[in-house]
Amino acid sequence: MSRYSTVAVILHWLIALAVIALLIAGFWMGDAIRNPETQALAFEVFQLHKSLGLTVLVLTVVRLLWRLGHPAPALPDAMPGWQKTAAHATAWAFYVILLVMPLSGWVIVSTSPFGLPTMWFGLFEWPHITQLTNAASALQINGAAEEVHELLAFGAVGLLFLHVGGALKHHFIDRDDVLARMLPWLSR
Ligand code: HEM
Repeated sequence: MSRYSTVAVILHWLIALAVIALLIAGFWMGDAIRNPETQALAFEVFQLHKSLGLTVLVLTVVRLLWRLGHPAPALPDAMPGWQKTAAHATAWAFYVILLVMPLSGWVIVSTSPFGLPTMWFGLFEWPHITQLTNAASALQINGAAEEVHELLAFGAVGLLFLHVGGALKHHFIDRDDVLARMLPWLSR
């Protein structure tokens, strides 16, 4: 079986876990920060969300660079062409989301009227994009970035269902090695 390299497998699962946590935290914290009972916890969750999201940005850049030198193994010959196209389109849509979600989050915090610093897991200050912070249209940029962030969050949930659904179909219906090559300890 030709499978993904160990580095690609580790990056895939680290990013997958982080994105699921980010989506859950993200959808929860928006309302929670406005509720006096959950505000203090939501503030902490916001800090974790920002740190984890920026980590996803770095890991995704590493992953894309790694992929340049280590292409994904070919999909099974038996797969119809449209399914291969759909699989590739989903994968690349994911990469776009994995870059634009954290970048839009970075823009949100850089242009936020609250002007809070972004501490990476409390260890060091992640710089804001000062050109945006000082821009005359910072508030408009902030609103637009929030829209993008929210829209892509729903896009990510949709893609996640398609992606997991496809992986399970390969494993349980087509009974090929598509899931196992990204999950090498899975016995068929
Ligand atoms: C892959 C990475 C990320 C994912 C999947 C993600 C996901 C989400 C989700 C689901 C929401 C709630 C959307 C809504 O209903 O309005 C959210 C909100 C938010 N995220 Fe992220 N996020 C990511 C990265 C980041 C980063 C890197 C930052 C900042 C450095 C960030 C800052 C924020 C902020 C400030 C909000 C609240 C926006 C608002 O008040 O409307 N996010 N995120």
